[in-house]
Amino acid sequence: MTVPPSPRVDRRHFIAASGAAALTAALPRPADAARPQVRGGPVVISSGNGLVAVARALAQLNDGVDPAAAVVHGVAAVEDDPRDMSVGLGGLPNEQGVVQLDASVMHGPTHKAGAVAGLENVRNAAAVALEVLRRTDHVLLVGAGALAFARACGFEEENLLTERARQAWLKWKGNLNPDDDWLDDDQLVTPAPDSRAHAGPTPHTHGTIHCAALNDQGDLGACTTTSGLSYKIPGRVGDSPIIGAGMYVENDIGAAGATGRGESVIQSCGAFQIVQHMGRGDHPTAACLKVLEWIARHTRRPALLNDRGQPNFGCTMYAVRKDGAYGSATMRGRNVQFAVADAAGARKEECAVLYG
Ligand code: GLY
Repeated sequence: MTVPPSPRVDRRHFIAASGAAALTAALPRPADAARPQVRGGPVVISSGNGLVAVARALAQLNDGVDPAAAVVHGVAAVEDDPRDMSVGLGGLPNEQGVVQLDASVMHGPTHKAGAVAGLENVRNAAAVALEVLRRTDHVLLVGAGALAFARACGFEEENLLTERARQAWLKWKGNLNPDDDWLDDDQLVTPAPDSRAHAGPTPHTHGTIHCAALNDQGDLGACTTTSGLSYKIPGRVGDSPIIGAGMYVENDIGAAGATGRGESVIQSCGAFQIVQHMGRGDHPTAACLKVLEWIARHTRRPALLNDRGQPNFGCTMYAVRKDGAYGSATMRGRNVQFAVADAAGARKEECAVLYG
């Protein structure tokens, strides 16, 4: 499968092209023309770390599994993978070295939602969120309550902090502050007791997996699952378990989700906004770009802006519409990809870029 060229839209072009029609005109017609025109489902999309997830979820859809259950089954492959340090087992911990997971799921036909936040010791947070949806009249369970619920549902408990994640956390602690008593173990190899050699802070990461599915009946389901911001303050909750922020579904319109800086996605009601834009007729890619541009306009804190006044953080949006059209857009970066599976198979495609 040939990956279509990236539909890059820089900020100057974006702002000059005000209005949905102008924005849609900025999108890559040749790539769209080359892409098989999917009409309806099944189609599954995910963040770039979800190639295995979209393939698994599509197989489930083809077996008649409900789309909400299919995406939860899909992302479990990534939650179970200790090499992915953004979710589930092996996710990066909070500042105290404890892995705390957030997840949400939504079922289009019933418009029901379930979510957990700050969940410890259970790797498949999306599956626990699905149980909240299925077994309760609540939407969001947090912390000790979420863990007790997961236990009641029969989920196994384990230490989610892998050796690799623990080493990354220790490295972060060792380089956090030149004046504290935590040293980077590199200093054992090259002792620098007088200078307290300090490599500078390790950047925080916001790895996450979002996955959305449309079946051949036109029904939608979506989920987002994450270990959240690495080295976060204990108890910090990101966008992933917030319905309308990191994930949202309206069965008559489409589904959307986000990865990246959760605070910005919460402050923009990101996934909800994307679905509303699609409801007004936008292509999913255009809807994603509009919300990224909205986030850019509302980002005021100097530490979050580069010298051109643009957001300096990562944020990627994903959307699938009820007619099978889909797309993704990212705030910045090159070769940022998302995963897709449909009748043409599972593959990665390039995200549109707001700031190329
Ligand atoms: N988007 C994931 C997080 O910020 O927690």
